[in-house]
Amino acid sequence: MQQLVDSRTKEEKPQYQQALSIPAYLEETYWWAYVHPKAVAFFERQWLVNLILWGNFVRLRDSALNELGHRIHGHTLQIACVYGDFSVKLMQRIDEGGSLDIVDVLPIQLDNVRRKLPPHSPVQILHSDSTKLKLADGSYDQAIIFFLLHEQPASTRAETLSEVLRVLKPGGKLVIVDYHQPSILHPLRYLFKPILKRLEPFALDLWHQGIERWLPKGFVPLEFTKKTFFGGLYQIIVIRR
Ligand SMILES: C[S@@+](CC[C@H](N)C(=O)[O-])C[C@H]1O[C@@H](n2cnc3c(N)ncnc32)[C@H](O)[C@@H]1O
Repeated sequence: MQQLVDSRTKEEKPQYQQALSIPAYLEETYWWAYVHPKAVAFFERQWLVNLILWGNFVRLRDSALNELGHRIHGHTLQIACVYGDFSVKLMQRIDEGGSLDIVDVLPIQLDNVRRKLPPHSPVQILHSDSTKLKLADGSYDQAIIFFLLHEQPASTRAETLSEVLRVLKPGGKLVIVDYHQPSILHPLRYLFKPILKRLEPFALDLWHQGIERWLPKGFVPLEFTKKTFFGGLYQIIVIRR
């Protein structure tokens, strides 16, 4: 039987089919959620993502998107794929003439988001590591990071923020949604902590320190606002570069 050989050159292959190493924390800590071929089949259920977020998926998704606007103008960057309809809802808000680029380090996740978007969506899918974005300085009007930073070790988190701020235009907006320490009376402060500690070992950094901690040294934002949700378990940060 004749073997099929992919004879395309590196430049001819779609970007996400080119080699890029998987960060160690994804392989070691999050293989079950994102890397394993069965992960997507299991987790790509919005009700499950909503359950993991204690029923707050839609509220957090829409609050984040509202920070970007009901119609979103210019060039938008989504750093890392999200299970559920996050990217579809984001794409629906992109105004005529605007663009949406979605970056992820795992081809399996990029294939998955591509499947969720309607055919011919004006969305570019980019295979890239958040710490080494192959994107020009000052090229985006806004960027969104939804529940990525708590999954990254501290030094990687700082590199991601530095890269995202680099590719934002001066005055551009970055919206971050992630965990935060719940208030002292919140039952999840005590019940959820051991679960996070076991399954998501870097997440508690965000309970103990503000996102400011991982911003590049000397960076002075034009604007920095923080809102918390669900008794403080979640935060939405808006930074204007
Ligand atoms: C945004 S986070 C978590 C999202 C959320 N928990 C959900 O419901 O899907 C998960 C994504 O981040 C991606 N990711 C993790 N580290 C990355 C990195 N260094 N660069 C780009 N993407 C990364 C993973 O491949 C995965 O698709």
